[in-house]
Amino acid sequence: MITVVGIGADGWDGLPPAARRELASCQVLMGSSRQLDLVPGEFERVAWPSPLLPNLPDLLARHADRRIGVLASGDPGFHGIGTTLVRLLGADRVRVLPHPSSASLACARLGWALDEVTVVSLVGKPAALLVPHLHPGRRVLVLGGSPAEVAALAPDARITVLEQLGGPRERVHADLAAADPLHVLALECGRDGASTTPGRPDDAYEHDGQLTKREVRAVTLALLAPRPGELLWDVGAGAGSVAVEWCRTHPACRAVAVEKSPERAARVGRNATALGVPGIRVVVGESPAALDLEPPDAVFIGGGLTAPGVVERCWAALRPGGRLVANAVTLESEAVLTGWHARLGGELTRVEVSRAAPIGGFTGWRPQKPVTLWAVTRPWTGPESGTRPGAESGTQPGTGPGTRSVTEEEQ
Ligand SMILES: C[S@@+](CC[C@H](N)C(=O)[O-])C[C@H]1O[C@@H](n2cnc3c(N)ncnc32)[C@H](O)[C@@H]1O
Repeated sequence: MITVVGIGADGWDGLPPAARRELASCQVLMGSSRQLDLVPGEFERVAWPSPLLPNLPDLLARHADRRIGVLASGDPGFHGIGTTLVRLLGADRVRVLPHPSSASLACARLGWALDEVTVVSLVGKPAALLVPHLHPGRRVLVLGGSPAEVAALAPDARITVLEQLGGPRERVHADLAAADPLHVLALECGRDGASTTPGRPDDAYEHDGQLTKREVRAVTLALLAPRPGELLWDVGAGAGSVAVEWCRTHPACRAVAVEKSPERAARVGRNATALGVPGIRVVVGESPAALDLEPPDAVFIGGGLTAPGVVERCWAALRPGGRLVANAVTLESEAVLTGWHARLGGELTRVEVSRAAPIGGFTGWRPQKPVTLWAVTRPWTGPESGTRPGAESGTQPGTGPGTRSVTEEEQ
């Protein structure tokens, strides 16, 4: 059992008696050098190695026969080492004694309701991650992150620096240039901040015309039905708008954008960063060869439908319960979709959008190219089989060769 004790900027003085007793009974104490200096006692002190994560399992194994204590800042289960240890060892081998988190302290100082703020950690992460959380009038707490970068992303927000919270050097001020490295930034957003509902205007993206247009994109995302934590393959990503909007629906959503043109792939990366989802993985390559990737919860095929093996590969890789959506604008790609629809079922939909535009001094409808959408869901295993993954029993209407290979791979 490892005991993780949260400690604040007030050090030993701020620890309750129970936490002090726990620490006193440890044989080895791990933490940052700064934290280890805060605690008196006879135990062996081990400062975190750098980099921490790859070295952690070995470090713990070396001291496995001893009573290990770990120091963490604030609440160890809040963007902290406590979470990492539980992930590594399991909840039954880690005991956590929390201290107030920096977010709790910041809210206490500002009179904000902790349950009404959004907390974004930029510790070791790109600042662009903040973008999807900026909404008119909302309150956001940012952990870590450069004040200058945050201010550039949220130019109309009122920003307060809360530094060294809970310690003798605590300060609350608005001088971004003078922020102590140990700070939380409190943002009161202005009027900027785009909705995260799919269907952003087309001009929100840098593109060369290879873009799933706004109205069709909104329908496509509704069919893809993103849920927190799910992974999307955006195959033939073009400008990457579907992957971007998938990821913007929830911070835990992930996407891989696969694009054969290096120029377009670079554009996907720029769109992802500009719209606040820089974690999208961009794979430059031709499908299906480029699709040797982690199995997805959803696949969007926006390009490459007529290339042999693309639909087979996507359908075969899809997790049970996963959704596949493919859009076609040419007769050839539509023929591919009708063939697959006949084999696997699902829904075929045709979307025809007209946008009003000037005609001379008047206004008329300008039709866009009709788009055929095929959406199909990979069934969950039936309850009688008792297995989670996998693949249907083969009794699915129209089961095709692609499906059979999935059954073999996943069992
Ligand atoms: C990896 S997170 C750990 C958060 C910690 N577990 C907690 O409960 O607050 C580190 C970030 O928390 C914030 N932080 C932690 N302690 C703080 C303090 N005493 N004053 C201000 N910010 C603090 C800083 O933004 C720092 O970059």
